[in-house]
Amino acid sequence: MIMIGPPGSGKSMLAKRMPTILPDLSFDEAMEVTKVFSVAGSLNKTETLIAVRPFRSPHHTISDAGLVGGGQTPRPGEISLSHLGVLFLDELPEFKRNALEALRQPLEEGTITITRSLVTASFPAKFMLIAAMNPCPCGYFGDRVRTCRCSPQQIRQYQAKISGPLLDRIDLHIEVPSVKYRALSNKETGESSSTIKERVNKARARQNKRYEGNGILCNARMTDKQIRTYCSIDEESQGLLEMAIEKLGLSARAMNRILKVSRTIADLENKETVESAHVAEAIQYRSLDRNLI
Ligand SMILES: Nc1ncnc2c1ncn2[C@@H]1O[C@H](COP(=O)(O)OP(=O)(O)O)[C@@H](O)[C@H]1O
Ligand SMILES: [Mg+2]
Ligand SMILES: [Zn+2]
Repeated sequence: MIMIGPPGSGKSMLAKRMPTILPDLSFDEAMEVTKVFSVAGSLNKTETLIAVRPFRSPHHTISDAGLVGGGQTPRPGEISLSHLGVLFLDELPEFKRNALEALRQPLEEGTITITRSLVTASFPAKFMLIAAMNPCPCGYFGDRVRTCRCSPQQIRQYQAKISGPLLDRIDLHIEVPSVKYRALSNKETGESSSTIKERVNKARARQNKRYEGNGILCNARMTDKQIRTYCSIDEESQGLLEMAIEKLGLSARAMNRILKVSRTIADLENKETVESAHVAEAIQYRSLDRNLI
């Protein structure tokens, strides 16, 4: 997911709450996470098993090796330390271009291969990427209250720091508008994390059951063939997709990702078949594929 919005709109806050709605780790998953931490030398002496999903938020000054892994004797980087958990990259455009581009392979494959002259090492890297960014250098482009003082050229340059191929691999593009005082002082509270988590766990349980014996646990890890099997859509949805591909210039990869997201939206609604409303919603989450300006 990538969140885009002005300073103070709550992007960092939302990202940090993510672990509170993630499904619990199974024992096997806990073992996997623990192994990575052990190889990285990041396990405390007192820790025998890591039983919570990792949440990592490296600073944008991090080196390529620190982010994706590397070194003379290859070591796992942050993308592996967030295996089966969350990798939060705040202020995404501030990260080094090379480091960001290096995320592409692991985002597709769930593993990272590091090649040095003498050794090649592979580490798991099935992380959930959560990124946040302002829409422009000053932060207020598109804001309804404050005025942006950046030139179109500056805005374009800023947004171009996130390459098309990287955006292509991000399923959910979310615009986070600034919160007005009234909304903040409103006594009405939203849904609690525990209520949301219940819904997430139910959707996950559906997926676990669906993929039993298929070697995967959740929608995100479907192969192209599995997408064809489990995300069949009707003619109306097909039409929506075709229109989106034409209008947004979506790649085949983006199309498959939209189908996976549609499947997840259906699962969250406890529906067996993917409906056109689910596909339409999934398409909406690709707003950055269009140029913003
Ligand atoms: N939707 C919201 N509901 C409640 N508080 C919020 C909301 N959005 C922002 N805040 C408050 O504003 C602060 C700044 O938000 P932050 O997440 O740092 O914004 P951003 O990362 O978008 O710049 C938060 O710590 C929180 O106290
Ligand atoms: Mg922030
Ligand atoms: Zn601006």
